[in-house]
Amino acid sequence: TIDVDSGGTGPAIDPDMYGVFFEDINRAADGGLYAELVQNRSFEYLPVDNGSYTGLTAWSAVSSAGGSGTAATVDDDARLNERNRTYLKLTLSNTGAGAYGVQNAGYNTGVALEKGKRYDFSVWARTDAAGGTPLTVSLRDQAGTTTYATAVRVSVRGDTWRRYTGTFVATGTTDAARLTVQAGGAGTLRLDMVSLFPRDTFKGRPNGLRKDLAEKIAALRPGFVRFPGGCIVNTGSMYGYDAASGYQRARAYQWKDTVGPVEERATNANFWGYNQSYGLGYYEYFQFAEDVGAKAVPVVPALVTGCGQNRAVDDEALLQRHIQDTLDLIEFATGPATSTWGAKRAAMGHPEPFGLDRLEVGNEENLPDAFMARFVKFRDAIKAEYPDITIISNSGPDDMGATFDRAWELNRANGVEMVDEHYYNSPDWFLQNNRRYDSYDRSGAKVWLGEFASQENKLYNALAEGAYLTGLERNADVVTMASYAPLLANIDYVQWRPDMIWFDNDQSWGSASYEVQKLFMTNVGDRVVPSTFSGATRTPEPVTGAVGLSTWRTAARYDDVLVTSADGTQLFHDDFSAGADRWTPIAGRGAWSVVDGGYVQSDTAAENTMVEAGDENWRDYDLDVKATKLSG
Ligand code: AHR
Repeated sequence: TIDVDSGGTGPAIDPDMYGVFFEDINRAADGGLYAELVQNRSFEYLPVDNGSYTGLTAWSAVSSAGGSGTAATVDDDARLNERNRTYLKLTLSNTGAGAYGVQNAGYNTGVALEKGKRYDFSVWARTDAAGGTPLTVSLRDQAGTTTYATAVRVSVRGDTWRRYTGTFVATGTTDAARLTVQAGGAGTLRLDMVSLFPRDTFKGRPNGLRKDLAEKIAALRPGFVRFPGGCIVNTGSMYGYDAASGYQRARAYQWKDTVGPVEERATNANFWGYNQSYGLGYYEYFQFAEDVGAKAVPVVPALVTGCGQNRAVDDEALLQRHIQDTLDLIEFATGPATSTWGAKRAAMGHPEPFGLDRLEVGNEENLPDAFMARFVKFRDAIKAEYPDITIISNSGPDDMGATFDRAWELNRANGVEMVDEHYYNSPDWFLQNNRRYDSYDRSGAKVWLGEFASQENKLYNALAEGAYLTGLERNADVVTMASYAPLLANIDYVQWRPDMIWFDNDQSWGSASYEVQKLFMTNVGDRVVPSTFSGATRTPEPVTGAVGLSTWRTAARYDDVLVTSADGTQLFHDDFSAGADRWTPIAGRGAWSVVDGGYVQSDTAAENTMVEAGDENWRDYDLDVKATKLSG
């Protein structure tokens, strides 16, 4: 029986409670949401980004009509600019009608084209050939036997960098085309930023986003967009590009690297093992958030590295620079077009402020004390200028153990307004922990469940996540934001699963979790209506004295058992599924190890130690526990 108190007043639910978390993981940006079709367009793939890279990754040499030459990537004084350092140098030795050049393999199976659609080509080039260098740009299959558009012809003139453009109209549909750039004549031709964009991007934005992916995200009607990560925010070096000290790869994500003309943006080694072009940068993130009607929620690094690096950077001058960068970011988002950073935003095409009412400092640092010392400095500096902006902290990594507890202790002690929690757990965990937030302090920090997912992409996972969201909504006075993670995965470049939306170079599809998130995100209630359930199932049954674990299973009285100790601490769970015993220790509670095919838990006291010696040969231990019969 469900009793609904229709006149009761449960907590109000923020209409923007559900949002999305975008991180450039699984090639979510280049080769994903960012609509650029050319891979390694600026020849900045370096072996330090990924051991398999060279400057010519995704490129190969081509020639026609007996053309000849050499192709090499070069980082010298002839570069396009200080940030876009490496370029392609073609040394041409063609005679007659011969042409020599390179072709790009795109992502996945190649460059995806759709018949009748327009594609905009551009390239930066310079030549030392006195009469100029003719370029023929084509879209064709790998063997060069099928063409997918009339070729674009460009005449490069002069030995200074200039941008050249052209447009294709696709005459066929394919997911495996190649973009080919071939040059005639002799001499040295330098190329950089070889680019091909579909004209049909999301909302028609230049330098825009892939339409099918952006539309799937928009269909969620997200209340917010958290970006740009995750681990890519606070890993690597904290130093930005510095011409005096040399070009440093694997920098922590620094927003100033990612704005301005695309050919002047830095590229970076990505924490997830590949190059990131930053073509999808902070301007594009803000624009995307605006286009889908969501609040933009940036995350900035706090000079403590996370995600296994676990290092605190002690450099007060650098810290102050990062704090100033964050103040500049807020000006970029909210300042008038007459302000320094508002003017840069306006120059990129958005004179009106984007707006910003919340910002996260740091991501999953597992050095809570070092993090909080820095967080407080960020917060104080921001609040002094922007008192209405909510500054969000975090609860450390997903360990729910000592680090988590210490992080929360510090968040409370420092009066933090909102704490970002992350966890990835089994679907059973999500079912068992529906009441997690019932006991959170109602007058303390708000919680943002900034990253969560149950650990597969099956229907059961999606249902468990949906069930869990009801627990978040019941606690909407505490949990005010929630976002599944990760959002996107390119099937050929996966670093993390499960994911919400999957894609290749011309198709995309939502997981079952996507459908459940969409259901909740597009049906956000105004207020929780209090309700109670009464029924015959799932009544906790205290178990005292000697308990035979085998009895629990074979007598079928407990076919799915959650065990808690007398003080309510969850110890383990066994759903007896698939004929095998699946002991699932509750995260962060005691250390578990496998002994003789069984499990030993060393928790706090001897009475909580149990041994399973083998599947059919369980030993009985005296357990001072309570068992909750979950079903059956
Ligand atoms: O969502 C994938 C990763 O999980 C994020 O980068 C990080 O914040 C978390 O550990």
